[in-house]
Amino acid sequence: MTTTTPPATAAKPPSLFDRIGGEAGARLLADRFYDLMEQQPEYAELRAMHAPDLAPMRVSLTQFLSAWLGGPRTWFEERPGACIMSAHRSMDVSRETARQWLHAMSRAMVETAVEPDLGQQMQQAMTRMGSAMIVR
Ligand code: HEM
Repeated sequence: MTTTTPPATAAKPPSLFDRIGGEAGARLLADRFYDLMEQQPEYAELRAMHAPDLAPMRVSLTQFLSAWLGGPRTWFEERPGACIMSAHRSMDVSRETARQWLHAMSRAMVETAVEPDLGQQMQQAMTRMGSAMIVR
C-alpha cells in the first residue's frame, strides 16, 4: 500500500482550539460563563450548587475547554483517570440546573463571539454531556 504525503507547504486546517482563540479564548468564554452565573438571577439555582469562590472554577473550566478542543492537556494531567462525567458524579444535577448551565453557556458563547459553527458543535456535545449528568 502506498501512502501519499501532503506537500510540506499544505496549510494545516486550524484546530478547534485555534478557532476558539487558544487558551485566551477559552478563558474569555469560561469567565463570561461564570460572570453570567454570578450576576443573572435566572441562574441562581445553578450558582447555589457552586462554592462561594468561583475563581478555581474559572481556571478549571478554561483548562478543561482547552484540552477538550485539542489544546494543552493540563486538566487531564492533573486528574489522572478522570473525565468530565466522573467529575460530576457526586453533583446532584437536576433537569433545571442542567438547563440553566446549557443556557448560560450558550449565551456566553454568543457574547464572546465564538464562531457560530464551532459554537453549535460545542453546544450539541455539551447538551449530550449535560443530559447524561442529570440524576433527578
Ligand atoms: C449541565 C449540567 C451541569 C451542572 C449542573 C454542572 C455543575 C457543576 C458544579 C456544581 C461543579 C462544582 C463547582 C464547585 O465545586 O464549586 C462543576 C464543576 C465543573 N464543571 Fe460542571 N456542570 C454541568 C455541566 C458541565 C459540562 C457540560 C462541562 C464541560 C463542558 C462542565 C465543566 C465543569 C468543570 C471543568 C468543573 C470543575 C471540576 C474539576 O475541574 O474537577 N460542567 N460543575
